[in-house]
Amino acid sequence: MIRPAGRADARAIAELEVRAWRWAFVDVVPDGDMPTIEAREARWTGGALDGAFVAEVEGRIAGVVQIGPEPAEVDGAVGRLRGLYVDPAAQGAGLGAALHDHAVQALRASGFGSAILEVFTANGHARGFYERRGWEPAGEAQEWAGVPSIRYRLSLGGMTIRLVKAGDVHAIAALQVRAWRAEYAGFVDEADMPTIADRTGLWNGVRPGEAWLAEQDGSIAGVVGVAEGEIGILHVDPAFRDSEVGSALLGHAEGVLRDRGHTMALLWTFRENAASRALYERHGWTLDGAEQERSPGVSEVRYRRAL
Ligand SMILES: CC(C)(COP(=O)(O)OP(=O)(O)OC[C@H]1O[C@@H](n2cnc3c(N)ncnc32)[C@H](O)[C@@H]1OP(=O)(O)O)[C@@H](O)C(=O)NCCC(=O)NCCS
Repeated sequence: MIRPAGRADARAIAELEVRAWRWAFVDVVPDGDMPTIEAREARWTGGALDGAFVAEVEGRIAGVVQIGPEPAEVDGAVGRLRGLYVDPAAQGAGLGAALHDHAVQALRASGFGSAILEVFTANGHARGFYERRGWEPAGEAQEWAGVPSIRYRLSLGGMTIRLVKAGDVHAIAALQVRAWRAEYAGFVDEADMPTIADRTGLWNGVRPGEAWLAEQDGSIAGVVGVAEGEIGILHVDPAFRDSEVGSALLGHAEGVLRDRGHTMALLWTFRENAASRALYERHGWTLDGAEQERSPGVSEVRYRRAL
């Protein structure tokens, strides 16, 4: 189980760190520079616990990692992964990988576009571990107690999909207004275009667990919502058109409906909306013949798909 670290974990984390250092760095760090349990415990009792996670196995702490902003980077867009340690007795069983992946997810969820870490240049084991997970060498880092270190960087640019939260409502409403203007200007009258105010009102009424957004490099790239076996809404920010955002959100919504026990799904889209109709058809959706008029002269067609 991976969970946030608490003050009560200080001693156990300190003991684990010292064991891991002695195991991993015996030939690298001079004996007099090895951290002590007391010093590490004081760091965990007195320092910030933000972004620190521990892995617990059968009630014992077997691994630790911490994430946060990289203080040397001024724009706040770069995160840092630090202090990933697994108890020597627990290594090689996937715990390091699980803590690593958890930390990277947390860095992404914090909105960092990339992250750095530093590792002793001589620590071939950890360097291989990070390189197999996409980290790229990014030059020398400052020496630590005379021991050369190297910096690695990971791009976090991959897209993530997460539930919509109350704080997202305004940004989503704005995205929707931009998307309508970009996609529907040819067939929806100006008077029928949504406003940020009316979309914000609609989004405030959405029940939790019914809408997800795609985030790319910390920006909201698209949104999808489901209700009663239907995909009620799918919008991609015009700036992210022709990327995989629409497909990823559609696939996510289909998965949600399937998980909720639906074997068939419906959606409505403007008859004139060639781009989204092509997307639905690529995903196996077919017209079922139903049509409705959304406003005078503007029709919607219905698609259905077995899940
Ligand atoms: C680097 C370190 C964190 C790795 O931790 P670990 O628990 O041994 O790592 P894992 O077991 O997850 O991964 C090791 C390998 O075993 C594999 N593995 C073995 N059994 C596994 C299992 N049951 N499930 C998943 N993966 C498993 C992993 O896939 C990984 O292989 P890969 O890197 O080729 O993908 C650990 O060696 C450590 O604490 N070292 C000392 C401190 C250190 O160097 N820290 C980094 C400095 S910043």
